[in-house]
Amino acid sequence: MDKIRIDSLSKTYASKVGRVRALENINLTIGHNEFVTLVGPSGCGKSTLLKVIGALIKPSRGRIIFDEAPLLKPTADVGIVFQEPVLLLWRTVLDNVLLPAEILRLDKAKAKKRAMALLKLVGLEGFETRHPDELSGGMQQRVALCRALIHDPSVLLMDEPFAALDPMTREELGFELLRIWDVEKKTVVFVTHSIPEAILLADRVVAMSPRPGAIARILDIDLARPRTLDMQFTDKFKSYSDEIRAVIHRRAGGSAP
Ligand SMILES: Nc1ncnc2c1ncn2[C@@H]1O[C@H](COP(=O)(O)OP(=O)(O)O)[C@@H](O)[C@H]1O
Ligand SMILES: [Mg+2]
Repeated sequence: MDKIRIDSLSKTYASKVGRVRALENINLTIGHNEFVTLVGPSGCGKSTLLKVIGALIKPSRGRIIFDEAPLLKPTADVGIVFQEPVLLLWRTVLDNVLLPAEILRLDKAKAKKRAMALLKLVGLEGFETRHPDELSGGMQQRVALCRALIHDPSVLLMDEPFAALDPMTREELGFELLRIWDVEKKTVVFVTHSIPEAILLADRVVAMSPRPGAIARILDIDLARPRTLDMQFTDKFKSYSDEIRAVIHRRAGGSAP
């Protein structure tokens, strides 16, 4: 059974400068516990697609089928991580993680226990009573990840979550995410504009091209798990990367630059 089905989806924004066709006829099926990455150049509609999947915005045409039913409003079965951690500065690490649990009125003791376990899982044990401004960017993003997982959603949507971090922290967090995904068994949709990151994390890479945003290619990533950094130097990895690079810059009806 599919977890998410994106069915003939288009999105046009009405802005002051006119209409922007952000997505054009997107069709994609995402399986239970699958790790899918969306990759493409800036402006190709990645964030728009993620927001439609999370029901944060409505599509202009088409629909999202979530657990076999049309998705009409945001569901607690989804957790979201954005590029910026957007933590509340006056709250401790633990209280930031607990925020969705409060909003959803979950059992306090149980939520606290899960928050502590998640913080431990991301290496933040002992930082529960600290405040966000005492943490590095990587640590803040780990807190945001725990917050997205606190209510145990089965889907995790991530919009360039590591893009603002330095390259080493970024790699480290990528592997950490894979470890968490292995423990927690989530369906992950992960947006990035980094081709290596997209390949290294994914079961499938969805390569998007711009103007209007469309799926240019879907690649099955046939690399063993657990993934390692060395895999980037294999011929297979390089051929995936070449193929993605060739299609994402192609315009509708045109050829690669
Ligand atoms: N709220 C909005 N109003 C008008 N245009 C928008 C809005 N959000 C995004 N866009 C436009 O839609 C296109 C896709 O944007 P976006 O989904 O943010 O792309 P990406 O995340 O791949 O960089 C871009 O041309 C962008 O300028
Ligand atoms: Mg974006």
